[in-house]
Amino acid sequence: MFITFEGIEGSGKGVMLGLTLDWLRRAGHSVLATREPGGSELGAALRALLLDTRNSDMAPEAELFLYLADRAQHVASKIRPALAGGQVALSDRYADSTIVYQGYGRGLDVDELFRLNDLAVKGLWPDLTLVLDLDVETGLERALRRNREQGLAEKEGRFEAESLFFHAKIRSGYQAWAARHPERIRLVDASGSPAEVFGRIEPLLKALR
Ligand code: TYD
Repeated sequence: MFITFEGIEGSGKGVMLGLTLDWLRRAGHSVLATREPGGSELGAALRALLLDTRNSDMAPEAELFLYLADRAQHVASKIRPALAGGQVALSDRYADSTIVYQGYGRGLDVDELFRLNDLAVKGLWPDLTLVLDLDVETGLERALRRNREQGLAEKEGRFEAESLFFHAKIRSGYQAWAARHPERIRLVDASGSPAEVFGRIEPLLKALR
């Protein structure tokens, strides 16, 4: 079983992944929790390049192939082995992030991005993708607060520095993409407390089993 968490910055992916992890473990599952970019050793180096504000003039195609390289290595070295060993794999971001950020966000062709991702992951798409849907202002407020609390360096904040307009495109991109894949992607209202949001996720997890 492979489940991914998607959404704009500050939508609560990390927190919902953690609650899902606890829920699955209590149900007796062995779980791999991972994230992109940076879920593998090679990926950690790629992540540093991708999120460095000094690289903000990166060509969209260069950025794309770095994300795809990160994902290909992540799938091969972490996700596939976990699934083969009978674990449930949870990932904070996956291929849909590329389709939405590089496609709906940066303007690359969405269908082409789907094919390139399919190549990078050799056809491994999640059983369930949860898109945490939240208004952009609330998301950015949450993300900026988290960055301040964790004392994250400037260079970790390349995307947080993007305009509200860009993030609004990302939110509507997720909505449009989810509508194209209703069999796999579920939009979840991410407003409210963590317990409230997880209360919306739990029935979707139950329906999987
Ligand atoms: P991260 O620090 O993981 O942010 P978040 O907490 O929002 O997940 O940074 C990931 C950033 O990279 C995020 O702004 C989205 C972007 N991204 C892409 O543009 N394409 C991708 O394929 C992935 C995986 C992430």
